[in-house]
Amino acid sequence: MSTEPLLEVSHLTVDITSAQGPRRILDDISLSIAPGEPMGLVGESGSGKSMTLRTILGMLPHGARVVSGEVRYAGHDILTAGVGRGYRSSVRGAGISMVFQEPAIALNPVMRVGQQITDAVAERKRLSRRAAADLAVELLERVGIPDPGRRARAYPFELSGGMRQRVMIAAALAQEPNVLLCDEPTTALDVTIQAQVLDLFRSMQQERGLGLLYVTHDLAVVAQLCTALSVMQGGRIVEQGGLQAIFDDPQHAYTQRLLRSTPRLPAGPLDAVVAQ
Ligand SMILES: Nc1ncnc2c1ncn2[C@@H]1O[C@H](COP(=O)(O)OP(=O)(O)OP(=O)(O)O)[C@@H](O)[C@H]1O
Ligand SMILES: [Mg+2]
Repeated sequence: MSTEPLLEVSHLTVDITSAQGPRRILDDISLSIAPGEPMGLVGESGSGKSMTLRTILGMLPHGARVVSGEVRYAGHDILTAGVGRGYRSSVRGAGISMVFQEPAIALNPVMRVGQQITDAVAERKRLSRRAAADLAVELLERVGIPDPGRRARAYPFELSGGMRQRVMIAAALAQEPNVLLCDEPTTALDVTIQAQVLDLFRSMQQERGLGLLYVTHDLAVVAQLCTALSVMQGGRIVEQGGLQAIFDDPQHAYTQRLLRSTPRLPAGPLDAVVAQ
């Protein structure tokens, strides 16, 4: 498997303008995602984790602007491709998918979930209606949704929050991305379902080198899934490196606090955890 970076963010700086004037929300963010080197992204609330993911996808909120920096995907600068719908679909077509923090943003309330999962894919792969429906059911099953045939015909409001979150994950995976950006994708899930979803991400990394940038508050999840870690505070990356090295010897006060306050953190070598 090649370890050339799939996604490279260099010196990304973003301002947002409010009534009080411009405010820097991302300051000189650099990170790199290679196949087989999934990266966890942690940091306190408001530190810029979601903004980093949204900037990569060109989905900045109104008033936000990239001041400087670059986002390269498979060697191409994707920020200068211009912001907007065309840009987003071209990036998605090129293989970056995102699982959003709030299912409400990403799901269409008046469309059956099965159709939402396969909508984009059916067109691209020229699937028949029947084949698309089968694919949706298969993906719902893979993310642990019971009775997936029936659930595929449900509308989002008919499903629990945890199920909606899994529908989003299924929709992101349907695109067969090379890079998956995840924003707290398993927070609303109970621990057994969370374990199943983490297993699914892990097998996609191992089987086809899926690149992963994974935002979470849970270092135990990072330990199970990632080999690298970036820690954000106040719009900056304050610590970055191999996961084991950071767990062994955290440099930044925030990282030290986070490690101390994670009760489920495995004590042994990370390899033992990953091998479980
Ligand atoms: N739509 C918006 N308009 C203006 N400012 C915003 C907007 N969304 C986020 N911000 C600001 O950008 C900064 C970074 O926010 P971001 O959502 O990236 O934080 P986060 O690390 O994802 O936090 P959380 O862990 O709570 O999800 C914060 O100061 C936030 O107030
Ligand atoms: Mg966020």
